[in-house]
Amino acid sequence: MDLKHYLQFTDLSAGEYAYLFERAALIKRKFKGYEKHHTLADRTLAMIFEKASTRTRVSFEAGMYQLGGSVVHLTTGDSQLGRAEPIDDSAKVISRMVDLVMIRTYGQDKIEQFARHSRVPVINGLTNEFHPCQILADIFTFIEHRGSIAGKTVAWVGDGNNMANTWLQAAELLDFTVHVSTPGGYEVDQAVAGIRSGASYKVFKNPMDACRGADLVTTDVWTSMGYEAENEARKKAFADWCVDSDMMRAAKPDALFMHCLPAHRGEEVEADVIDGPQSVVWDEAENRMHAQKALMEYLLLGRR
Ligand code: CP
Ligand code: NVA
Repeated sequence: MDLKHYLQFTDLSAGEYAYLFERAALIKRKFKGYEKHHTLADRTLAMIFEKASTRTRVSFEAGMYQLGGSVVHLTTGDSQLGRAEPIDDSAKVISRMVDLVMIRTYGQDKIEQFARHSRVPVINGLTNEFHPCQILADIFTFIEHRGSIAGKTVAWVGDGNNMANTWLQAAELLDFTVHVSTPGGYEVDQAVAGIRSGASYKVFKNPMDACRGADLVTTDVWTSMGYEAENEARKKAFADWCVDSDMMRAAKPDALFMHCLPAHRGEEVEADVIDGPQSVVWDEAENRMHAQKALMEYLLLGRR
């Protein structure tokens, strides 16, 4: 099989996503039925974390064990990665010993550099620019609840961050529309998002307008990891970008609410929304594992 990395959402085609969503559903059914699914027996995943994580760590680690494989967990603090060993050297060494690498880091350039020197597939577990595994799980979750996302409208309320960029990539590839509302100074940048045109998204000054008629309303923390120094300025700038029940009422009556988590109730979302009947955040979090199991299997074995 050709070496295939998953560094951005656009690294797979619409056809490959259709396959992955079906495969994730099958893998989830088998998991719920306590049925063994050891397609990656004897394979090893290295997970490299340069930023904190709960969901990404647990979903990849539990998922790999459930596929019959094993994992190695590395952080900057307990490996030579934090002591300035060149990325190229780390990639060459680690990828000689494992079958797959997942990396959570800062700049997208770092993961791309690692991938250029890796002999095995590299998966983006979040960078400053993108979070493709999360959107993979989010769209899988949308499909479970509402069917195909093609032609639908997703309202993005909040920061023009890694999640927003990845939603824009997904919209262009899978034919849906994103309504984006960010405070001034925190807009999405088409060049950073790596999309071909502005046809699949619309920008709204007022977050309420972005939510109008949406099939899915979604948001994220005001301050992403790595931007903590801007926390106070962001708290002021984002005060009106809190998803509340009025915004949910502006969306379609059957609109879903998603948040990649961790969430800050009373900041980017009110408790009655995230803990309310339209919220699917717990399914969304669980689906990280099922979707990533399908992804890891696909990168190593292709279609089954
Ligand atoms: N959503 C997400 O990636 O969560 P963690 O930061 O806990 O991995
Ligand atoms: N945008 C957030 C997502 C956390 C899962 C961050 O990068 O910190």
